[in-house]
Amino acid sequence: MLKIVVLVSGGGTNLQAIIDGIREGRITNTRLCGVISNKKDAYALTRAEQAGVPGVCVSPKDYDSRERFHEALLAAIDSLEPDLIVLAGFLVILPELLVKKYEGRIVNIHPSLIPSFCGAGFYGLRVHEAVLARGVKVTGATVHFVDGGTDTGPILLQKAVAVQPDDTPEILQRRVMEEAEWKILPAAIDAIANGRFAQDANGSYYMKED
Ligand code: GAR
Repeated sequence: MLKIVVLVSGGGTNLQAIIDGIREGRITNTRLCGVISNKKDAYALTRAEQAGVPGVCVSPKDYDSRERFHEALLAAIDSLEPDLIVLAGFLVILPELLVKKYEGRIVNIHPSLIPSFCGAGFYGLRVHEAVLARGVKVTGATVHFVDGGTDTGPILLQKAVAVQPDDTPEILQRRVMEEAEWKILPAAIDAIANGRFAQDANGSYYMKED
């Protein structure tokens, strides 16, 4: 059984997709053992409570330095002894110590087709604003392992989504969530839990067929 901890900062629709995926049997062999938010008022914490999953807030505002905050975050994660950490809209850059300790055991969902529209400053609605400003016709979402960089880790799954005429950032964000994020994040967790990812000769990850 894969024990997962989900880290969140906001609305938690990706967290909800994981909760629903486990409940409906689309994610198997997986137990959600906790949710950690860096924001006290994150609706994701309400979603966790409603699902009967322990939720805690570790806010940088409660610590006198970034270092102390990082220590508290690591302690909160360690106490849950996860096999996998899932960043589901967690808008904090992870401390190096955490990334090293959990190397190969942290996944992130990013709302674009990496390597486009990613890296420092590209998060949430800003990604979709940049997509519309550039005029690309196809965007999407990516699930990847987290390494020391921002959105630079090995890619696990991607799904493309069409940009439509007259899209607003909000409309496009919703479409990317519905058509891509809420599908590929549960699919990636299920595949990890069931040992279905393999690496090819290039070192790229792919999902093995049953
Ligand atoms: C999602 O679109 C997620 O991909 C994005 O934040 C949103 C969180 O929504 N993450 C990033 O931009 C990370 N760089 P949610 O709280 O409803 O899941």
